[in-house]
Amino acid sequence: MTYKFSKHVPQSDVDAVGDILKVAGDPKVTSFAGGLPAPELFPVEEVKAAANRVLTGNGRAALQYGSSQGVPGLRQVILNRLEIEGIKTDSDHVMVATGSQQSIDLTGKIFIDEGTTVIVEDPTYLTAIDVFRSYGAHFVGVDMDEDGMKMDALEEALKNNPDTRLIYTVPTFQNPTGRTMTLERRKKLVELAGKYDVLVLEDNPYGAIRWSGNNLPSLKSLDKNNHVIYMGTLSKIFSPGLRLGWVVADPKLIKKYTMMKQSADLHTDSLAQYIAAEYFAENDIEDHVTAITALYHKREQIMVDAVDKYFPAGVTHSNPEGGMFLWVMVPGVADSQKLFDAALKRNVAIVPGDPFFGNESIPGTFRMNYSNTPEDKIEDGVKRLAEAIEEVMSK
Ligand SMILES: Cc1ncc(COP(=O)(O)O)c(C=O)c1O
Repeated sequence: MTYKFSKHVPQSDVDAVGDILKVAGDPKVTSFAGGLPAPELFPVEEVKAAANRVLTGNGRAALQYGSSQGVPGLRQVILNRLEIEGIKTDSDHVMVATGSQQSIDLTGKIFIDEGTTVIVEDPTYLTAIDVFRSYGAHFVGVDMDEDGMKMDALEEALKNNPDTRLIYTVPTFQNPTGRTMTLERRKKLVELAGKYDVLVLEDNPYGAIRWSGNNLPSLKSLDKNNHVIYMGTLSKIFSPGLRLGWVVADPKLIKKYTMMKQSADLHTDSLAQYIAAEYFAENDIEDHVTAITALYHKREQIMVDAVDKYFPAGVTHSNPEGGMFLWVMVPGVADSQKLFDAALKRNVAIVPGDPFFGNESIPGTFRMNYSNTPEDKIEDGVKRLAEAIEEVMSK
């Protein structure tokens, strides 16, 4: 059989990141590669109790088809969380999605045609690149520094690409860099979105996991003219397995998202929504987020201390104030894959920087995750990684 694929399907079968995660799953390997939360903190007993209450009291509704916009109880939970993030809105502005990943995909379906310009941070979340590429996006990357996307570079990109439809950003504890956009730049970004009449897609999976610095307002809370679409998720503060996320936008847009979601999956898993709403009614999520934040901070400190102690001179890294990732830049290395190969020879896995760029990558970069590695494994893994970097730098 000769398969005739649509143009949305990648022509190549190479799944570089999938292959990395496969080798990183080998128990011999100390993996800093994935982006998984610490499973030991999942509230298994509390979820079991919540599921029991749902099935006892509301089982038939929870097992029935539901609304594409989401179960009312969960939408109320989402509104409460949004209020904590400074976004005061109502349920007409909110749609439950099957994880933020679906919100990204639906955004691609709604806004991207073949050749549509999408501005992204350089680097950015690699799976958003994959999604937007599958819809035919033309990427324009904007440089970042430790304060997030550079606004003069963004304005230049907007001037040079007047057909831009979307600016995709992860302003807080970004994946892959862990960097956070300053308040000044947030205000500027919203101003530029208005000036050039472009939509911003704000993706905020990590914002609640902060251990230092001040909370910063979301772009959505600064936006007065419906230029920002906001996406949140329970994946990093509760459970990624339940696949619960949300989109917040102008009700006119929510209507489009809901229609596109209907064609994608009718609605997000009702049982998962009921269980999450029940969990939030009976448990203090802030206590849980505090526990997650404390553990990730501990792991991050161990990782950063070891990186500063063992990595060769000249290697630099980001300094996250929260979230799950550290971004490392190795000078004089043309091919990031070499860093991955040398690390794997020593049974350590990282993700080389290349797939995080829409176009040309910055060589000698890689991402490290600390949330999923037990404290007693981190220093030794970093030490072996340091040897790998030295080997590549010396060639
Ligand atoms: C920046 C970013 N956006 C979206 C997602 C997808 O998250 P979800 O589990 O909510 O689909 C991730 C997952 O790691 C992410 O890092």
